[in-house]
Amino acid sequence: MSGDFIALVHPKGAKCSVRFLTTVGQEPQMNSSSIAGIILAAGKGTRMKSELPKGLHRVCGIPMVEHVARAMKAAGVERPIIVIGHGGDLIREALGESYDYAWQHEQLGTGHAALMAKDFLVDHKGPVIVAAGDTPLLQAETFVELCEAHQSAKATVTLSTSILEDPKGYGRIVRDDMGNPAKIVEEKDASPEEKAIREINVALYCFDCPTLFSILPSLSNTNAQGEYYLTDVLEVVKNQGGVLAAKIFDDPEITVGVNDRWQLALADREMRLRILKKHALNGVTLGNIDTISIGVDVTIGPDTVIDSATLLVGSTSIGSGCKIGPYTRIENSSIGDRSSIIASYVDRAVVGSEVWVGPYAHLRPKANLADGSKAGNFVEIKNANLGPGAKVNHLSYIGDATVGEETNIGAGTITCNYDGYHKHQTQIGANAFIGSHSTLVAPVRIGTGAIVAAGSVITHDVPDEAGAFGRARQETKEGWAARWRKIKKSGSC
Ligand code: UD1
Ligand code: CA
Repeated sequence: MSGDFIALVHPKGAKCSVRFLTTVGQEPQMNSSSIAGIILAAGKGTRMKSELPKGLHRVCGIPMVEHVARAMKAAGVERPIIVIGHGGDLIREALGESYDYAWQHEQLGTGHAALMAKDFLVDHKGPVIVAAGDTPLLQAETFVELCEAHQSAKATVTLSTSILEDPKGYGRIVRDDMGNPAKIVEEKDASPEEKAIREINVALYCFDCPTLFSILPSLSNTNAQGEYYLTDVLEVVKNQGGVLAAKIFDDPEITVGVNDRWQLALADREMRLRILKKHALNGVTLGNIDTISIGVDVTIGPDTVIDSATLLVGSTSIGSGCKIGPYTRIENSSIGDRSSIIASYVDRAVVGSEVWVGPYAHLRPKANLADGSKAGNFVEIKNANLGPGAKVNHLSYIGDATVGEETNIGAGTITCNYDGYHKHQTQIGANAFIGSHSTLVAPVRIGTGAIVAAGSVITHDVPDEAGAFGRARQETKEGWAARWRKIKKSGSC
């Protein structure tokens, strides 16, 4: 059904359309500016036992509430309205200005929270989706399916439900004799019979917007938690003769609500597997999937192997035909094609194609390794360009430097970039050869084709094609070793 358009006709006449795309990697979309969306994220999240607002706890690298906001946007809600309160400035700072924000200064319950979005929606006559900011596994297609159900039932409100083995902690769906949803009872207000109900409220709804805001101010907070429950709107709708519909989601994983850190860990695992599967289906080979973590924004080309115990973080991009890992962390970096990075830490670096990194290399911010270059064992590179084919094979520190094309840096070479107060540059030309265990004291320039003798301390510029010997001249004494041993054995000293 890829690309199909299904017209949604709202009960009160407002029209929107929903497009379904089922292809892997493409988000299904509601192609409509007439669907609004509210995300409730003002709560403190007491059960997280954290200074951080609950919505900012991360699942696969991005805040939970951002997962919900992105999915809603991907489904076609142009500017989701996020209700913020506890830690609201932090949430706004983290998510940025592509969303609208409504403040709930006192956390008086989910019904009160939804009411705070009213100012943004006074003129909105179409449907409005309301989701919780702590349900990070919701997907664009979840919203689309909800809207479709809402339309086909010509409902005033459509709620999302799921049947759980263990419904503990969730609101329960009470159905009437006809099997239609009648109301939602919170766990804390539920009778033993109601607690036995396994159909739960996902906290994802599609409302007729004017109806929602006409009912919200009239809710009461006489319940076990003394809160204004959004869930109470449903019973009022029913009593007013509105149409209450329920969409049952078969996949309970989608609907998981995160209230504590264990649920956060479970949500992270679920999202991680979802991301791994997407890459695998796109042609990426994965090692032990229990040990690989790939952030939501990471891109990977086909025929790349991501080996075990590897973490790809932030806005990292990896080309095709690479071999990454095992035991590697790559963060906010870009890697070209057919490169190998083994047992290394790469942070904000740019790595070209056919580059070899590791094992045990550390590429720090602004390390820039051109095609065919190499940073081998125990090599640290920071704010430095390695030219095409340049090699730093072993035990070196290259910082604040440029290394020209095809230059070879011998084992144990150090650029002394820091004098205790300032950082200085080392420039090494193309086709140069730096002998092992050299110390290049910056600022210094080594010319094209120059050779630095092993063990040199270089404090002055070396011209092109020159040889530089910055070490004490060797003195060799014939027969000295034998004489020394003889003296030692005789015990005379
Ligand atoms: C809610 C539902 C419950 C459902 C469950 C699904 C209500 C009354 N209950 O319960 O039926 O099964 O979600 O996960 O809605 N929030 C605010 N302001 C507030 C209170 C909450 O913005 O004053 C936000 C929270 O930040 C959170 C969301 O609303 O993102 C849900 O609140 P939470 O306290 O987690 O509700 P649950 O007890 O999980
Ligand atoms: Ca919750």
